[in-house]
Amino acid sequence: MVNRKLGRGVALVGAGMSKFGAFPGKSSRDLFVEAFLEMLGSVDKGFDAKDIEALYIGNFSSDLFENQGHTAPIMADWVGLTPRPATRVEDACASGGVALRQGLIAVASGLYDVVLVGGVEKMTDLPIERVTDTLATAADALYEVPAGFTFPGLYASMATAYMAQYGAETDVFLKVGYKNHENGALNPKAQFGQRISTIMEARKASAARKGLPAPTWADEMDFLKDDRANPTIAWPMRLYDCSPVSDGAAAVLLVSEEIARRFTDKPLYLVGSGQASDGATHSRPTLTSLPSTRYAANSAYEMAGCKPTDIKVVEVHDCFTVAEIIASEDLGFFKPGDGWKAVEDGMTSRNGARPINTSGGLKSKGHPVGASGVGQVLEIWKQLRGEAGERQLPGDPGLGLTQNVGGTGQTCTVHIFERR
Ligand code: COA
Repeated sequence: MVNRKLGRGVALVGAGMSKFGAFPGKSSRDLFVEAFLEMLGSVDKGFDAKDIEALYIGNFSSDLFENQGHTAPIMADWVGLTPRPATRVEDACASGGVALRQGLIAVASGLYDVVLVGGVEKMTDLPIERVTDTLATAADALYEVPAGFTFPGLYASMATAYMAQYGAETDVFLKVGYKNHENGALNPKAQFGQRISTIMEARKASAARKGLPAPTWADEMDFLKDDRANPTIAWPMRLYDCSPVSDGAAAVLLVSEEIARRFTDKPLYLVGSGQASDGATHSRPTLTSLPSTRYAANSAYEMAGCKPTDIKVVEVHDCFTVAEIIASEDLGFFKPGDGWKAVEDGMTSRNGARPINTSGGLKSKGHPVGASGVGQVLEIWKQLRGEAGERQLPGDPGLGLTQNVGGTGQTCTVHIFERR
């Protein structure tokens, strides 16, 4: 693939998100307004929202989730920004990441100086069967869906392929979930922001209150291996291997490099961007790597002029725990087949040598699909600006990276951010 350079520099000068979770009574409009207002408040030197010239909104399926299509102008209206052009961007769970890239291209091209990039999804109004069917529209309706696949099943097949190829055992997936709950416990925006130990103790207390026999889990891994506490969804993926069904929104403000310091003295610069597409799982030579991640990452690294070892803060698309391990290899952090060993060695923990998903990831933070790619940027924004509170990584944060996947890798975007 030919890589291109940006026409001019683009900075990130504001970022906000709603809490992720299940919010009966709140629509995607309400959630988007929450994210937008937080984004407004995050711009250090303040600005007039009327200066926003265009909106790019990631949204996967408001049509099926909320019976409401044509989402972008509604969001523009609800934040008072009509008649500015508002464009919905749909690439399944990568909708947010692709919206970010569209906003980046729009500013880099010189067409606009100030652009709002958002992502939003309201998933929890439907029963789980319909949520699963709606998500499955992002799979291949000719090959994957008639074969009986849903998304937990597709990622489960990637997990079994990974185990067979590299000798990993099921425990390693549980350890990814455990680690992401440890991180999410420090993130007030997380949907499942509890440590596994806290969940386990709450279950014990609940059993005691109901006069039921006390569960005998020796530790958190024992809890996670218990079929009743952590049932299998699609073997080997259990409940705590799956990202949840979520509502949420996120919004970030992109401006041209020349005007960035009018907004803040601590801008981040979008120095690398890559996007790639692929066929569905049946057409790939392997299930243990996503070629689209490799292409997108290589494009982003080349544009940024950096290598994987320069990246310090990483948010990857852990829609299922196996996806985090595969991403850690496809992004070049570990050799193929070494990602699971890095988890076993604690390298991807917050205090490890290569922390991954300090926000809690999609697993703990939540996965409102169209919002997730933009939500990932919030963690990079906070970590690179030294504002991540208890989950702040020590030392010079260096560069940050987000990887956002649509489907099982039919789409992938990778973005690289620098604080300077
Ligand atoms: N992780 C941990 N706990 C979860 C959870 C998750 N992902 N999802 C639900 N729970 C908890 C609930 O809080 C609830 O706990 P409680 O009994 O203590 O109140 C319990 O599990 C049952 O919740 P419920 O909402 O009934 O679960 P569900 O069976 O409807 O959904 C999944 C569980 C795994 C099927 C659902 O989260 C799912 O489909 N996830 C994958 C989403 C997906 O495919 N996204 C796209 C990726 S490409």
